[in-house]
Order: sequence, then C-alpha cells, then structure tokens
Amino acid sequence: AAAQEVVKIGLIATLTGPQAASGRQKVAGARLFMAQHGNKVAGKTIELIVKDDTGVADQTRRIAQELIVNDKVAFLAGFSLTPLALAVAPVITQAKVPAIIMTAGTSVITERSPYFVRVSFTLPQQTVPLAEWAAKNGVKTAVSLVSDYGPGIDTQDAFKQRLEERGGKVVEQIKAPLANPEFAPFLQRAKDLKPDALLLFVPAPTAGSLMRQVVDRDLAGAGIKVIGTGDITDDDQLNSMGDAVIGLITSHFYSAAHDSPLNKKFVAEFKQANPNMRPNFIGVSGYDGMYAMYEALKKTDGKTDGTALVEAMKGMKWESPRGMMSIDPATRDVIQDVYIRKVEKKDGELYNIEFDVVKDVKDPLHK
Ligand code: DHB
Repeated sequence: AAAQEVVKIGLIATLTGPQAASGRQKVAGARLFMAQHGNKVAGKTIELIVKDDTGVADQTRRIAQELIVNDKVAFLAGFSLTPLALAVAPVITQAKVPAIIMTAGTSVITERSPYFVRVSFTLPQQTVPLAEWAAKNGVKTAVSLVSDYGPGIDTQDAFKQRLEERGGKVVEQIKAPLANPEFAPFLQRAKDLKPDALLLFVPAPTAGSLMRQVVDRDLAGAGIKVIGTGDITDDDQLNSMGDAVIGLITSHFYSAAHDSPLNKKFVAEFKQANPNMRPNFIGVSGYDGMYAMYEALKKTDGKTDGTALVEAMKGMKWESPRGMMSIDPATRDVIQDVYIRKVEKKDGELYNIEFDVVKDVKDPLHK
C-alpha cells in the first residue's frame, strides 16, 4: 500500500512567559479533539506540530515562515495576543496558507489577510451585549479600565458607544500597560470617580493579578458594579480568585458550566486528559479550530490548496461545546451566541453561570 500522505498543521502557541496559560489551553483543546476524532481525515494523516512563540511577535512571524517553508504545513493555527496574529498577516497572504485564530480578539485582524479564519471571538462582539445589559440594569455612569492595546481599545470603544446610545455615560476611559501592569493606582482612580459600574478587560492570563487587586480595593463595597468580558473571570483561574468575585457579571461566548450534553462531555474529557485544568474559552477555541480544519479537508477531499481550504470554511456551521457557531462567509469571522453570566458557587467551585443570551452575534465593527 502507498504510504499515507501527511497533512501538517502548525500550531503556534504561547507556552512560556506571562501569557503561557493561553498556549497551554489551546494545545490541550487541539490535542483533545485529535484524541477524540483520530488523525485520519479524507485519506490523509494529520500531524500537529506545536511551537512556542513565547508571546513575541517577531518569533511568531519567524516560526510561521519556518513552518510554511520547511515543514510545508497546510494550516497555521494559534495566535494568543493580537500583535502576534497581525505579525503573520503578510506571511500567510503571500504563501496562501490559512491561519486559524484561536484567541486574538481585536476586530480588525481578519481584515488584514484573506487567509485568516477566526474561531475565537472579537471583543466588540462580547462587549455590546454587556453594554445592553448594563443599560437595562441601572448603569447610568461607567468607567472603563482596559489593557492598552487592540482588544482593550475595541472593548472600551464598543462599550462607550452602546452605553451612550442607551442614555448612559462613560465618564473616563483608563488604559493600563499590557506588560507588567500595576493596576492599583488605576483602580483607585476608578473608585474615586464613583461610577455605577467599572468595566474591565485584560487578556485572560492577566486576569488573576487584576482580580486580586480589584478584590483588595473592595469596589463592590464602594457601591461600584464590577463588570467585564469573560476574559476577567477566565475559567482556568476563576477558582483561585476567591469568593469575593461571586456575583460578578460578565459577557462571553464560553463557560465551562455551559449546559449542554456536548459541553459536559468536553469538560469531563478535557479534565481527564489535563488533571489540573478546567477548559476555558481558549481551550474550546483550540478544539473548534481543529474541527474547522478537519471539516475543510473533508470538503476538499484532502487537497491542501490554501485558497480552497479557506473557501471550504466560509459558511461552515457546527455545534461546539460553547453552543452553535459558524464562520461568516463574508468576513471569515466567527458568529456565535454571547451569554451574560454571573459568578456563582456550585459543588464547592466557582463558575460563570449563564443566565441570558444574545443569539448569533456578528462582530459589530466589520463593514
Ligand atoms: C487577546 C488575548 C487574550 O488572552 C484575551 O483574553 C483576549 C484578547 C488579544 O490579544 O487579542
């Protein structure tokens, strides 16, 4: 018998440095998908090559080039921080290799190359439903505090626009540096402004240190509702934040507590394979990214022409552990349900419990 042809997927993850939790999740999600579905697709053998970009954009670009030129990968995937995704845009466009975004959430990324397909989220997609919730729940004045880069800017702008359309007011937009942030003075400033709500965004691996300082400052005790995108109550770290975060409201596309048979199976098998982890939105995006690549290969009959693979993913719709999701054929960005959740204690552990949903949300910024 002829040797079976190998199709390679280059997963560029951030596995060291301050964002290492991000890479750990997406590699675990991708490996779980392969453990469940095998490595044979459309007559080909799938090989996953995992590389660590350490969270540095020049490394992401160099690794992408090596994976394309030396390993001849059919797909790239991964991309934790927005600047790392942006760094590969010219490389994938020139090489015509699809790149599946499993974390980075700045809206504009998918417009930077026709070879990007996003299975994670965008920040405006999560933030607009949260602003609606805030407006309906008595929030008249708000302050935002975000990491000072793409997804933070998207979050603060989308929140301000929607809250103010609904008659509220964002009285101050505070930005903290992405690297080595010291949140205390910013949180004190927000507390002094006495808004009805404080909106927070940081990349998920930074959430633990932010939330410890939020708890220390006792904003809730000062009558300030703390809200944010689900990045700040990341399932991977939520239990270590302590009971002081109970009641915190966030909006997001994935909770480990999502109530569906598929999610229960996903969470159970993820924990079994990774005993000290709970899957978060990055883990599920690693899992769903593998699904999209497997299905694209089935549609092309195993052919690895990059343009055909991207075409195959446009309009793809499936049930994820997060709920139903699809790839917008016009933008290659994810369309999905966005949930409003509250931190609650269940069986002795903290969870984001979904209590409201906005169905089929597209990124609001893409034209
Ligand atoms: C980005 C990274 C994250 O870890 C996150 O939670 C949200 C956004 C980003 O850089 O786009």
